[in-house]
Order: sequence, then C-alpha cells, then structure tokens
Amino acid sequence: MGMQDKTIALHDVDLSLGRGAARVHILKGISLEVDRGEAVGLIGPSGSGKSTLLMTMAGLERPDSGKVIVDGTDLSGLDEDALARFRGRRIGIVFQSFHLVPTMTALENVALPLELAGESDAFERAEAELQAVGLGQRLHHYPAQLSGGEQQRVAIARAIVPNPAILVADEPTGNLDENTGGSIIDLLFALKRDRGATLVLVTHDLNLARLCDRMVRLRSGQVEAGAASAVA
Ligand SMILES: Nc1ncnc2c1ncn2[C@@H]1O[C@H](COP(=O)(O)OP(=O)(O)OP(=O)(O)O)[C@@H](O)[C@H]1O
Ligand SMILES: [Mg+2]
Repeated sequence: MGMQDKTIALHDVDLSLGRGAARVHILKGISLEVDRGEAVGLIGPSGSGKSTLLMTMAGLERPDSGKVIVDGTDLSGLDEDALARFRGRRIGIVFQSFHLVPTMTALENVALPLELAGESDAFERAEAELQAVGLGQRLHHYPAQLSGGEQQRVAIARAIVPNPAILVADEPTGNLDENTGGSIIDLLFALKRDRGATLVLVTHDLNLARLCDRMVRLRSGQVEAGAASAVA
C-alpha cells in the first residue's frame, strides 16, 4: 500500500512555533502512518509535541516542511476555507478542555457543526447523538450547568455528529474522575468499533494507550525508534 491508502500519513514533518527567542522547534522529521479503522495511542513526556502533532494531523497547524495526507488529500494543497470544510466533514476533534460555546445549550453546541455544513436535520441528529452519549435529559442545559464529564460527553457528541472517518482526542479523560473517564473511553472505542472510525488518542495513561491497536511514543519532537510497535 502506498501513502495514499493510509487514513493519515505524515512524511518528514517539521514544525516550529513562536517568534524570536520564544521560537521552538517542536516536530522534527516526523513520519507516521495510520491505517483506516486503526486506534493509535500517542504517548510521551510533557512537552514532547503530542498536542502539536495531533493538531498537525487534524489540519489545525500547518507544517513548515513535509507532507500531511489525510484520506488521500494533501492538506498543503488546501487554502484555509477548503481546509476548514475538509476538517468539518472528515475529522472530529476532542480537546482536553472541551471548547464548548458557553452561550449555547448542549443541543445547540452539538448541532453547530451540522448547521455550519448547511444540513437541514441538524437538531434532530444532534439530539440523537446526545441521547447516544447518555445526555438526553440535558439537551437544554448550558455548559456551566453541566459537570465536567457531561461537558466532555457534549464535546464528544459534537465531534462525532458529522460521522467523521477520523477522530483525534487530546487527553479526553485528563480532567475527569476514573469512572467518568472510563465511560468516555468506552464511547470513543464504540465509535471505532461501530462506525469504523480511525482513532488517534493522546494520553498520559499507559493502560489507556494499551487499549489501542498500537502505541506511538514521542520524545523531543521525534517518534522514538522501536516504540511504534503493536500492543495487542
Ligand atoms: N505556540 C507556541 N509557541 C512556542 N512554543 C510552543 C507553542 N506551542 C507549544 N510550544 C512548545 O512546544 C513543545 C511541545 O508542546 P505540546 O503542547 O505539543 O506538548 P505535549 O507533548 O502535548 O505536552 P503535554 O503532555 O504537557 O500536553 C512544548 O515545549 C511547548 O512549550
Ligand atoms: Mg498536550
């Protein structure tokens, strides 16, 4: 299989962020391929570049050099508008800190990506997705009226409602207690199992990373040699 057959393929990606003295060379020649339907656990020390790598895969950061190919599309060929549309259709993103719109209800938050895509059944689908994550009784609550675990479930419902082929999640359980975190993880893996989604999961939790098909370990902006091995 060539690079185009992989759901995500990074080839020799370099990325620096910040200006002047604060400029940091974060990703250093990263090459990585993720198969369709595969779950990859991305681990590594704090500051090793995990979040930056995830954002680069999701098209939220552009590399200085190298290629990022998602679902056969070279992201460098897309302008900002085309990239935003591509993300909206293909990639679900779950941030550690939820990123919900505080002035919108749970239902409005989840319907938002569908409304932006001009879909007429946005609210019906958003309601069904909130029911699927166990929040059918919280449709009209605002984020501030929800617990952390409930907010994270709203964020997951919002990420998966467009049926993305790819889901990237940055420490989705980092702010949650063990039980709530466990149910969030069940939700993410159900998406992989039931809808064949590709999952890239950043985590500090080795037990969680071991649930994935494969672990990739970053160290100082590089994939650690020999660490990208099968876990199962
Ligand atoms: N916008 C930026 N400007 C300058 N440096 C940055 C910027 N964003 C991140 N960095 C630096 O890049 C490095 C990698 O950051 P990143 O957030 O990707 O690490 P991480 O592996 O996700 O860490 P953690 O486990 O703590 O979340 C860090 O040293 C960070 O300080
Ligand atoms: Mg991070």
